[in-house]
Amino acid sequence: MKLLLATNNGHKIEEFQRILADFPIEIEFLTPRDLGISIDPEETGTTLYANAEIKAIEFFRASGVPTVADDTGLEVEALGNAPGVFSARYAGEHCSPRANRKKLLAEMDNSDDRRARFKTVICYFDGDRSYFVSGKCEGEIIREEHGTLGFGYDSIFRPENNEKTFAELLSEEKNAISHRGNAVRNFGHLLLAMQKPIMKIGFLASGTGSNVEAIIEAISNGRLYAKPMMIISNNSDAKVREKAEKYGIPFKHISSKMFASDDERDQAIADEFANCGVNMVCLAGYMKQVGEPILKRFGNNVLNIHPALLPKFGGAGMYGINVHKAVIEAGETESGVTIHLANSKYDSGKILAQKKVQVLPGDLPETLQKRVLCIEHTLYAETLQKIVLGDITL
Ligand code: GRF
Repeated sequence: MKLLLATNNGHKIEEFQRILADFPIEIEFLTPRDLGISIDPEETGTTLYANAEIKAIEFFRASGVPTVADDTGLEVEALGNAPGVFSARYAGEHCSPRANRKKLLAEMDNSDDRRARFKTVICYFDGDRSYFVSGKCEGEIIREEHGTLGFGYDSIFRPENNEKTFAELLSEEKNAISHRGNAVRNFGHLLLAMQKPIMKIGFLASGTGSNVEAIIEAISNGRLYAKPMMIISNNSDAKVREKAEKYGIPFKHISSKMFASDDERDQAIADEFANCGVNMVCLAGYMKQVGEPILKRFGNNVLNIHPALLPKFGGAGMYGINVHKAVIEAGETESGVTIHLANSKYDSGKILAQKKVQVLPGDLPETLQKRVLCIEHTLYAETLQKIVLGDITL
């Protein structure tokens, strides 16, 4: 395949080429210089995703070649994740990297919380649509500059589990752990995934369907490489039905009342999914236990989301607001979200991903539920994408 790297930065080009050489994909790399293209798209986006996409699309338009572009930002916890998308012009338009570092150190002078991360987002535009992968590197901002290698904020950023700053590491050492190195490796995995059968998702949901919607949105905005195939609900009036209509996804109502046994019901569900090519079943607010016919057909490819940090606050009766009530009554200081394999016992399958949410003083079950749900809406799709990229194996 031909691939245009939307940069003339020799180091970046070399890094892309070296990392992607480890993947069994034939790539002919092109650069804007090779094609005589000298555009410099304005990065007007407010997110790394938007800026990476602006560059990928503009360079595709100028070249007609599938294009990959990236954008990088530094997020500092104590500054509410600033400078982020504005990292390159933190101290003003056309300012020097030195001025940016000076401003950052000054802003953080009184802060003991030094946690920070570099994030790179890569956009691949194939001429038809955009696909995204990202990479990050956690670390901390030190109090004075160390090292002369690298660029940008490297001399004040010390990656986690490391004694040296990015500016004290050789480029091979840095690339092995860096945000961009990780993002490029994820891009290699994305290209590999694109050569295999795509993840086809069948949803089981009983209620609102906000998680179903979040996954469908992640697919349509290119953050999850998958296809939504069908939504099945045991509840004919469930709001999730409206989501099916909104996104034009087939909806089926299959409930226990229609069958002599739960096994027959689950056989019908498994058949419906199998008939439309589903290879991944996502439970999202599904109020029934999944039984053998589904588990036999889809094996480990049946996932569930739970609004707490399993194994705590799971099991029969632990659903909806009950979970958050129990968390608050137990005096927990943190709760969160769990994505796990579904099996024949509620909330007990292997845990694939978890994200914490603080329980705040004065939290009511409803306020906690709202914050947890926000995290649910990103964690499910992120976990599915990690499965697609081979980062999580089932
Ligand atoms: C979510 O809290 C999910 O964790 C749980 O059920 C709820 C479903 O919400 N399993 P929604 O229908 O996706 O809005």
